[in-house]
Order: sequence, then structure tokens, then C-alpha cells
Amino acid sequence: MTSPVETHYKTLLASRYTWMYGGLEKCLSAARELLDSLGLLASSHGVVLDLGSGPGYHAKALAESGSRVIAVDNSPELLQELAQVCSGLDVVPLQAEISDTARYAVRSPFSAILCLGDTLTHLDSFATVERLIDEWSRMLASGGALALEFREQARDLYGQDAVLTTRADRDRIMQCVLHFEPERVWITDIVHEWNGSQWQVWKSTYPKLRLKAEWIVARAAAAGLVVKSDAVRAGRRVMALTRG
Ligand SMILES: C[S@@+](CC[C@H](N)C(=O)[O-])C[C@H]1O[C@@H](n2cnc3c(N)ncnc32)[C@H](O)[C@@H]1O
Repeated sequence: MTSPVETHYKTLLASRYTWMYGGLEKCLSAARELLDSLGLLASSHGVVLDLGSGPGYHAKALAESGSRVIAVDNSPELLQELAQVCSGLDVVPLQAEISDTARYAVRSPFSAILCLGDTLTHLDSFATVERLIDEWSRMLASGGALALEFREQARDLYGQDAVLTTRADRDRIMQCVLHFEPERVWITDIVHEWNGSQWQVWKSTYPKLRLKAEWIVARAAAAGLVVKSDAVRAGRRVMALTRG
């Protein structure tokens, strides 16, 4: 069965994802900066697993610095964009569920495993995140790192504070409305597009898990991982975890 997250990307977000973040060049340069801050571009890093790779911003930077990248995503539209972004590079697209580890574990050990850009919060439950951290830990090569990036959503927002404009151009406006529950935030994206004679409107809702860094660190410790670095970048927690 298709999940609300998958439907959301198919019907609304995939075709507008790169636009939403300011265009390809901006996305590529942000990805390079993030990977650099994690020390992942310094030298060739063997085989890197990029989970929820999206359009391949991180995959491109890693492949250009000498790594082979296995790019896992369940969106065919975004994997098609990745094929263009990473054309000519050693990037292997794999259309699969992140939770279906058997699909990619066969290619381990990995010198790095990435779950960046808030992808972790897209998973269906805390139990799934816990299981995956444990399994990913066992897929790391010696000295390898698990890099996680997620928005904590620590504070509930109400009323007009829960309505945000993501990006607005002359012909396209994207906004979102947030609804907070203890374990999840429900995000309704609303896009208005001018087609030359009228505004067209798209709406779609999907859930994100409200992950806490302390909880992630505890789950990682149970899986034999220690925190190598921990920072907040653009409102998101960015952690590198290695085997202790
Ligand atoms: C927020 S985007 C992040 C993309 C990229 N990592 C970045 O930082 O720009 C989340 C990505 O994960 C993918 N995704 C979400 N849930 C997934 C799942 N359960 N299995 C596979 N891919 C998933 C989406 O299709 C999307 O490409």
C-alpha cells in the first residue's frame, strides 16, 4: 500500500522539490558544505549509502570526490532527476523502501551511510527508526560514519504561527500548514501556480515524526555507535555517529 509520504511526493512535492529549496545550484552548494562539515569530502570514501537520496545533491558531491554512491529512494520521479544530476558519475540509483534493508544490505559494508535532509522523520514509526539505526550500525565499514540530519520540531505552533510560506515566486507560491501531535507533525503543503489565465491549486498532507536528538543518541548507543560530531545547521540537527 502506498504511504501518505509516498503519495505526497508523487502528487505534489517531487516535481517542485529542487525549486522549493532555491534551485539546483543552491542545493548542490548546500550539500557540498554539509558534507564538508562532516569531513566526508576530504578523501575517497569507498561505497557510500545515501538513503532518501532525493534528486542526488549529496550523491553528486560524494561521487565527484571519489566515492561510489548507492542512492536509495522510493520516488521514481526523484530518481529520474538524480540520474540527470549525477549523469556520468559512479552513482547507482536503487528504487526501494528505506525500511527494506535487505535491498541494500547486500552491498555493505559502507564507508558512510547518509540519511539527510529530514528523511529520517519521513519514516513510519519510532520503532522503525530504532530498528534501522541498529541495522545500519552493522552495515558500516570499520571507521565508517552514520550521518543523520533532521528537524527536531520541539515546540508546538498554533494558529497563524503554524502557517508558513516555503517559497514564493511571481507564478508559484508554496505554503504549509502544520498540525502538531505529541509524536508527529502533520504537514499540509499548498501550492498555487499561475498557468497564464488562472491560479491552479494543489494540496497534500503527510506526517513527520517528532524525533529528539537525545532519543537518537540513546538508540545509537544501544547499537554501539558514539557521537563523533553534533551541530545545528539551518535549524536542523546534523550528527555523525561512528562505532565506538
Ligand atoms: C526531504 S527529502 C530529502 C532528499 C535529500 N536527502 C536531500 O537532503 O535533499 C526525503 C527523500 O526521501 C524519500 N523517501 C521518503 N520516505 C522514504 C521511504 N520510506 N523509502 C525511500 N525513500 C523515501 C523521498 O522520496 C525524498 O526523496
